[in-house]
Amino acid sequence: MGYISWADQDTPTVIGRPQWPVRVQRSTVGRLTSELRPSFLGDLMQAAVSAARYNFEVGMPDPDLLPVQEFQQILRELFSYPSREVFGYSPTLGLERVRQAIRDVYLARRGLEPKLEEVLVTAGSLQGLNLLTRLWVRPGDVVVVESPTFAGALHIFRAHEATIVDVPMDQFGMRTDLLPHLLSGKPTPRFLYIQPVGQNPTGITLSPERRQRLVTWAQASGVPIVEDDAYGFLSDDLPLAAQNPSLPLVYLNTFSKILSPGIRVGCVVAPADLIRQLVSLKQLSDLHTGTLSQLVVEGWLRLGNVDTHVARCRSVYSARLKTAERTIARFPRLTLYARPNHGFYLFVRLPSGLKAADLQNEAAKQELLFAIGDPFGTDQKFSQWMRLAVGAQPVPQIETGLWRLARLVDRYAARGSSGPS
Ligand SMILES: Cc1ncc(COP(=O)(O)O)c(C=O)c1O
Repeated sequence: MGYISWADQDTPTVIGRPQWPVRVQRSTVGRLTSELRPSFLGDLMQAAVSAARYNFEVGMPDPDLLPVQEFQQILRELFSYPSREVFGYSPTLGLERVRQAIRDVYLARRGLEPKLEEVLVTAGSLQGLNLLTRLWVRPGDVVVVESPTFAGALHIFRAHEATIVDVPMDQFGMRTDLLPHLLSGKPTPRFLYIQPVGQNPTGITLSPERRQRLVTWAQASGVPIVEDDAYGFLSDDLPLAAQNPSLPLVYLNTFSKILSPGIRVGCVVAPADLIRQLVSLKQLSDLHTGTLSQLVVEGWLRLGNVDTHVARCRSVYSARLKTAERTIARFPRLTLYARPNHGFYLFVRLPSGLKAADLQNEAAKQELLFAIGDPFGTDQKFSQWMRLAVGAQPVPQIETGLWRLARLVDRYAARGSSGPS
């Protein structure tokens, strides 16, 4: 059998041996080259299945908190007969009863009351962000982000060749006071991407004053806000979307952190005409989010134990975050970016001259995994930083793992970055 080659000319030729027919440079999605650091997310996904004892690399919920009995009950029901709804294709927008449950049970708890046609079920919230960026961003368009921010979001913006304007943070969140200055002389941004609650990677929650400033800026400039509320369930702080329903805002959420990332269910809330455009784009990639996954989420939402589950998550994750914060404070060579308010993460700086990447191999030998800081920034400014995901680690593991990390840092710092003594 022949294969079509598009590599060097517009007219394809049939050649006799297998090879990828389309050159990466011909992709319509920007420069899919090493610049995008494709290995970072790949490494992260690989680390998700690692058996390393101290896995601080991946931001996942603790599987021990999964409502396993509820899942068993739901799956038994779903598999009890070969229903077309469970095993067939389903609407791209998401099954109606799933969207209803997401709206009435989940989004309502975040203070949102969208119409049903304003809710799109996605394969994780990252898909929602990707679809939106694909729709709105052309090469060179400005996208505003917090600095540091979620590496997965930066990965998408880079892939679409956005001009990324990063706004520094402090312990109160994005320095919204700097927005006019940082954007002066630049084209109007396509949107501003922000995680107001329990930000990844810093754990910071945007203060009320900063929120107000951001809202005032968005209203005055007309720049849409893309609000990622992945960790919002860990806090009583409502999302911007709930507090300011008239803002131009697209809201993203996910069941990856409250339930399970492998289930791949998230949602976008936006005006119905925008949702229709996102639906058209989603059809280009996956037709619809896995029906079974959608129905598992719906079943869980309908069973009625969401509040108990959320309360348990809040108590467990907050205890782990506090333990990690206290433990780090005991090691003078490790500095926290700021006190984390919520979430799964700590962003930690190493002593000067030491890069997180320098430690990675040696750390892995000690079953210690962490995410290096670079991918959370637009340039090399976070080389000296690491993100520690502590959500899925029990308290004793956090204490021992961070102690091991501190010892390793001590040994490297004593020798310079060339290696441990
Ligand atoms: C802020 C934020 N948004 C989105 C995601 C990805 O979520 P999903 O698994 O729903 O694509 C993550 C995962 O780490 C995250 O931290």
